[in-house]
Amino acid sequence: MVKLHDLEFEPYLDQQTLQKSVKQLAERISKDYESKTPVFLGILNGAFMFLSDLMKQYEGDCEISFTKLASYEGTSSTGEVTTLLGAGNLKGKDVIVVEDIVDTGNTLEHIVGVLKKEGVASYKIATLFLKPEAYKKSLSLDYVGLEIPNKFIVGYGLDYNGLGRNISEIYQLKSNLND
Ligand code: IMP
Ligand code: MG
Repeated sequence: MVKLHDLEFEPYLDQQTLQKSVKQLAERISKDYESKTPVFLGILNGAFMFLSDLMKQYEGDCEISFTKLASYEGTSSTGEVTTLLGAGNLKGKDVIVVEDIVDTGNTLEHIVGVLKKEGVASYKIATLFLKPEAYKKSLSLDYVGLEIPNKFIVGYGLDYNGLGRNISEIYQLKSNLND
């Protein structure tokens, strides 16, 4: 059990499960981009740990860039996405957007709009986690690691109001038996 701010979280997924999923994704991406030099575009802050492990397992030439967006406050999406740090020049690049988790899809929709404006050669989306029950958009998600129920999780880069990113496993919000 871990306590972050006012909330308690319980163990959900161990390191082995995460690493297995990351490796499978890296293998698929390596095959698909064999003849290309993709740019992994990490969405800060949450994707930094996933992207680090994904890149280490990726075989072939690749580049990295980051952009910083914000849509979450506490444990729910505000629905509004703001850009805090731009990705730099991606014109003509084959971009793989790397997200920690796709929830409503608002963040992705925002970033895809930006990439189209930038004139990228191609883009695909990789996310370690997807909450299918919360996802409201029609954008296709090319590489999904693990589908999870609509529950708030922390660890492996994911936070609750800034805390929990350094936990190496995934914890989920403890269910309240009185609910
Ligand atoms: P979306 O825009 O609603 O798809 O939300 C995506 C972003 O919200 C992710 O990149 C995360 O930063 C954050 N987020 C969504 N669900 C969770 C969660 O369960 N734990 C921690 N952060 C989350
Ligand atoms: Mg994020």
